[in-house]
Amino acid sequence: MERTLVILKPDTVQRQVCGEIITRFEKVGLKIVGIKMIRPASDFAEKHYYDVKERHGEKVLNGLKEYLGMGPVIAFVLEGPSVIEQVRKMVGKTEPFSSPPGTIRGDYSNMTYKRADDPTTPIKSVYNLIHASANEKDAEHEINLWFSDSELWSYQTVHELFI
Ligand code: PPS
Repeated sequence: MERTLVILKPDTVQRQVCGEIITRFEKVGLKIVGIKMIRPASDFAEKHYYDVKERHGEKVLNGLKEYLGMGPVIAFVLEGPSVIEQVRKMVGKTEPFSSPPGTIRGDYSNMTYKRADDPTTPIKSVYNLIHASANEKDAEHEINLWFSDSELWSYQTVHELFI
């Protein structure tokens, strides 16, 4: 069964909306098979965002490292059919302002690239609440980075009988 990594970033933890976001995933029948709270160090964040420098440049990578290190995050692995695509659909676009209502980023923020880039504010990055693996290759890399095999579990949910 397919798996994906989700991170509730420091803004989500500090705004105390983790529970309601996790509930969205549970409601569609996705299964949490591992979960933890950690504060990612800069070198760990760099391993997570291994290709961001190449794709978006050093400034974006540095902003993301600072953002992820602002406080503890909640990371979890979700399992389910087509879970990578399903979760990305629920998360929305990178920029919350461009994310439609109904998506997590669209429902919880109106942050823009423009505001994130404004040097007169203390904002370090596009605060967009949540990360979700983009594809199978990233999911494998990210799950192996954040979780050991012994931290991932198998069990049956009631949803699996009906959804
Ligand atoms: S993704 O999720 O990999 O498809 O998204 P991608 O567009 O490739 O971006 C990779 C991560 O970089 C973040 N990002 C940015 N942050 C700040 N400013 C700018 N301009 C920017 N562009 C991309 C994006 O949010 C991705 O991080 P996560 O944690 O997945 O959201």
